[in-house]
Amino acid sequence: MNLILLGAPGAGKGTQAKRLEEAFSIIQLSTGDMLRAEVASGSDLGAEAKKIMEAGALVPDELIIGMISKRIDQDDCKDGFILDGFPRTTPQAEALGEMLEEKNLTLDHVLEIRTDDDAMVARITGRYTCAKCGAGYHDEFQKPAVEGVCDKCGGKEFSRRADDNEETVRSRLKAYHDQTSPIIAFYGDKGVCKAVDGMASIDDVTKQLKEAIGG
Ligand code: AP5
Ligand code: MG
Repeated sequence: MNLILLGAPGAGKGTQAKRLEEAFSIIQLSTGDMLRAEVASGSDLGAEAKKIMEAGALVPDELIIGMISKRIDQDDCKDGFILDGFPRTTPQAEALGEMLEEKNLTLDHVLEIRTDDDAMVARITGRYTCAKCGAGYHDEFQKPAVEGVCDKCGGKEFSRRADDNEETVRSRLKAYHDQTSPIIAFYGDKGVCKAVDGMASIDDVTKQLKEAIGG
């Protein structure tokens, strides 16, 4: 099963992708995570992406399309994947369609996590992740069971993203509305897009997504 999770910055794409990964044994492909790994590795692509991401703008389509196409060809994608943060523009959505056709793959679901912008700043500025295993937390909405200790791996070091400040979040929200939200209509016209209420609790959003997928 191959699916797309669409939603604004902070909508819960990453949080829900991790849960769907476990529930359906398919893999999360987050273009944001891939770009952050490129930045950390000091590659040419990472150097180009760093400033753009810190400004809250979008990395050029051709870089992203090439990166995701290579990733889909890897062996761990053969049982299916969850696209988190891709496609993000109409040209990316068109390129994905062509790419899947060439690779003889189908797109089974496009799921939009619908949220209110006003709540997204608090979600993003309170977010942190385990430095060892990448598990996601929130200062208020998703605390680890024992403060300062990761539930999943016991790690005690956490990190926050360079683009998780209020000013950048506002630019990311603008980029979402200007450049990404038109693809909801693109998929709506094809009859494959379903929306869930992303303002509900994390558990409830998971439930809605599973129902939409039919599992
Ligand atoms: P990316 O990493 O994709 O960031 P984003 O789209 O801005 O989304 P986030 O990761 O911030 O939010 P999320 O929806 O995953 O929320 P999360 O689950 O963490 O992209 C970063 C940058 O990379 C872009 O700005 C761009 O520059 C570049 N980029 C990436 N892909 C690109 C592409 N295709 N083309 C061009 N450029 C690209 O949740 C947030 C917090 O809220 C967490 O702390 C969580 O615990 C909490 N939370 C989640 N759900 C709930 C809930 N229901 N109730 C309460 N709290 C909740
Ligand atoms: Mg994310």
